[in-house]
Amino acid sequence: MYLRMKILCALLCYVGTQAEVRLPPTITHVEQPQYFHGGKNVSMFCEASGIPKPRFMWKRNGIVITKNEFMEFDPVLGNLKISNAIHRNGGDYQCIAENKWGTSMSNVAPLVYARLDSFSVDMNLQTYNVIEGESVSVKCDNIPESRPDPIFSWYLKTIGIDQSDASQIKENESIAIDVNGTLHLLNTKLKDSQPGQVYLCGITNKEHDTIVLGSETRITVEKNTQVSSTKLKLLAATHEVTGLIGKPVVLQCIFGGSSVPGIKWYSSSGVELVTDGMKYYVEKFGRQLTIQNVVEADEGSYLCVASNREARANIKLNVTSPPIWTQTIVSRHAVEGDDVIFNCKARSAIGERPVSMTEWYINGEALNLLKEAENGRQIELNPDQTSITIKGVSRDRDIMCIQCRLSNSVGSVFKDGFLNVLKPIKIWSRPPSTIIYNQEEIVDFSINASTDPSRTIDRKWFFNNNVLVPHQSYFEYDSVTGTFLFNTTLVKPENLEAMMGLYTCQLSHPDQTVNVTFTLKTNENSAPPVDTLDSTPDPVKSSNIYIIAVICGVLILVLAVVVILVLWKQRNPKAVYNVGAQEKNYNLTPIDELETEELRNDTSNSLDEIIELPA
Ligand SMILES: *[C@@H]1O[C@H](CO)[C@@H](O)[C@H](O)[C@H]1NC(C)=O
Ligand SMILES: *[C@@H]1O[C@H](CO)[C@@H](O)[C@H](O)[C@H]1NC(C)=O
Ligand SMILES: *[C@@H]1O[C@H](CO)[C@@H](O)[C@H](O)[C@H]1NC(C)=O
Ligand SMILES: *[C@@H]1O[C@H](CO)[C@@H](O)[C@H](O)[C@H]1NC(C)=O
Ligand SMILES: *[C@@H]1O[C@H](CO)[C@@H](O)[C@H](O)[C@H]1NC(C)=O
Ligand SMILES: *[C@@H]1O[C@H](CO)[C@@H](O)[C@H](O)[C@H]1NC(C)=O
Ligand SMILES: *[C@@H]1O[C@H](CO)[C@@H](O)[C@H](O)[C@H]1NC(C)=O
Repeated sequence: MYLRMKILCALLCYVGTQAEVRLPPTITHVEQPQYFHGGKNVSMFCEASGIPKPRFMWKRNGIVITKNEFMEFDPVLGNLKISNAIHRNGGDYQCIAENKWGTSMSNVAPLVYARLDSFSVDMNLQTYNVIEGESVSVKCDNIPESRPDPIFSWYLKTIGIDQSDASQIKENESIAIDVNGTLHLLNTKLKDSQPGQVYLCGITNKEHDTIVLGSETRITVEKNTQVSSTKLKLLAATHEVTGLIGKPVVLQCIFGGSSVPGIKWYSSSGVELVTDGMKYYVEKFGRQLTIQNVVEADEGSYLCVASNREARANIKLNVTSPPIWTQTIVSRHAVEGDDVIFNCKARSAIGERPVSMTEWYINGEALNLLKEAENGRQIELNPDQTSITIKGVSRDRDIMCIQCRLSNSVGSVFKDGFLNVLKPIKIWSRPPSTIIYNQEEIVDFSINASTDPSRTIDRKWFFNNNVLVPHQSYFEYDSVTGTFLFNTTLVKPENLEAMMGLYTCQLSHPDQTVNVTFTLKTNENSAPPVDTLDSTPDPVKSSNIYIIAVICGVLILVLAVVVILVLWKQRNPKAVYNVGAQEKNYNLTPIDELETEELRNDTSNSLDEIIELPA
C-alpha cells in the first residue's frame, strides 16, 4: 500500500513537472544613459522574458552590485537607481536576468561621468602678429577635460567688459575653426585687430549647456606695404582619419592666403564629391566633407583641392569596425532528442587584423566542456570554435542560456541567446496504417496527440496529398481534440469508392511537424479484416491489448486453417494428394490476400488521383 502511494506520488510529481511551461530568460530591453552628471540620480531599466519570471541583478565592472545607501535596485522589476551619483559611479554596467532555467546577460555598456572642466587660469595674454593679407592660426590652448568630446567656438571681447558680453565669431569664407579647435583667419584684414579686443576660445559638449572660455589672445595685423598678394597655402588638414562602419566621418582641409579659394573634393577614383543629401555633405564653405554611414568601400585616399589648384591635400580614410557578425547565436526552441547547433562567427573590416577566437559562455560562465560533460551534457566544439553542438537535448538537462563574445583591435561584440527544449509531439492514439472499410457505419480517423504545454498543435488534413478541409456533413471533426469520425451512412454508396485512398494528418506547431498517414480501402473479397479499427485510447494498455489480439488472431487463424483442412479433407479427400502441403499453406495465408489486394488498390489509386470528395 505504502509503495503504491509512493509510486502514485512520484508519478504525479513527474507529471506535474513535465506539464509545466519552461522558458529560459532572455533580456529584451536595456535602457541606460551613456553619460551622467554628478549629484544627479541615474536610472537604468532592464526587461526580460522567461517562465518563471526572471529576477534581475546588475554588475558594475564585472562585480555584482549590492544594495546600499546610494544604489537601489529592484530584482523583480529590473531597474537600478543611483542617487546623487558621483564620479566613482562611472563604469561598465551589465544587466543579468535569471530564472531556474538559465542566466541571460546584456551587453556591457559604459556609464560615463559627464564633465566640462574650466580652463586653467592663464594670465599671460598671448599675442599673434601677422601681416595684412596673410593667414593666422590661433590654437585653443590648455583644453580642459570634456566628456563627451568638446565642441569648439571662438569669441571676440572688449577688454574690461564681462565675459558674458563676448560675441561669438561665426565661420565664414575667411574664418575657419578646425576639428582641433584652432581658429584660422584665412586672409587677415586690419580690422581683425581692433585695439582693446581679444579673442577667446570656448568649449562646450553635448551634455552641457554652458560654455567655458579660455585665456585671452590678441591678434595684431600689420599693414602690408607690398603690392604682391600672398601665396595660397594649406593651413590644416585631417591627414589620417579613422571612420567606424555605420558612423559618419569628417574630413577637413583649410587653406589660407590673400584670396580664399573654393575647395573641391575628390574620391580616390577621381570622382568629384558634392553634397548629395544622402552620403556626402560638403560644408563650411567647402572646407569640410562629411561622409555619412561609412562602409568598407569608403576606405581610401581623398583629395581636397583649392580651386585654383595652387594647393591640395591628401586625406587617408581608414575604415575600421569592431567584429562584424557573419553568423550569430539565434535562440532556439528544440524538441527533446534533437541535436542543436549554435554559430558565432565574425570578421574584421577588410585589411585588418583578424578577430580573436570565439569565447563561449553558458549561463554567463565560460564554457568548460569537462564540467558540462560531468553534468551529462553532450557539448561539442568545432575545431575553430565558431560553433557548438549540443547533442540529444533533454528538457530536464539542457535548457540554458548561451553567450558568445568576439574581439578585435577596435572592440568586441557579444550575443546572448537561449536553448529551450520542448516536449515532442506525441501520438497517443491514431488509426491503423490501413483501414479496411467493411460497411461499418462509423470509420474512426481520430488522432489523439499531445505536445509541450507551451505549444498548441495545428492539424492539417490531406487526402491523396490534396488539402482536405473536413467540413462535410458526413465528417464529425474537432480540430482541438482530434476526434474525427466518418459517418459512411451519409455518403451515397456510389460515392464511397472515391473516398478510398491515402489520408494524411499534419500535426504541427512552429517548432515541430509530424505526419500521420493511413490508407482507407474497401475489402471486396470480404476476407476477414486484419486491421480492425483501433478504438483503444489508452496507450499503456493498448500495447498489451495489441499483443493479446495478435495471439488470439493467430490462434483463430490456426484453428480456422485446421477446420478448413478437416472440412476439405472430408469433402474432397483426393485434393489432399493433388496439392503440395507447402502450396496449400501459401494459399491460405491471409497476408497473401492482403498483398494482392494492395497491388490492385495501388493501381486504382493512381488512376483516381484527382477524384474529388463528394460534397
Ligand atoms: C534622487 O533620489 C533621492 C532618493 O531616492 C530623492 O530623495 C531625490 O529627490 C532624488 N533627486 C532628484 C533630483 O530626483
Ligand atoms: C567674416 O566675418 C568677419 C567677422 O564676423 C567679418 O569681418 C568678415 O568680413 C567676414 N568675411 C566674409 C568674407 O564675409
Ligand atoms: C589635430 O591634432 C592632431 C594631433 O595633434 C593632428 O594630428 C591633426 O593633424 C590635427 N588636425 C587638424 C585638422 O589640424
Ligand atoms: C586602420 O585602423 C586599425 C585600427 O586602429 C589598424 O589596426 C589598421 O592597421 C589601420 N589600417 C591602416 C591601413 O592604417
Ligand atoms: C506531411 O504531409 C504533407 C502532405 O502530404 C507533405 O506535404 C509534407 O511534406 C509531409 N511532411 C513530412 C515531414 O513528411
Ligand atoms: C488523449 O490521450 C490522453 C493520454 O492517454 C488522455 O488523457 C486524453 O483524455 C485523450 N484525449 C482524448 C480527446 O481522447
Ligand atoms: C450517422 O448518420 C446517420 C444518418 O444521419 C445517423 O442516423 C447516425 O446516428 C449517425 N451516426 C453517428 C454515430 O453519428
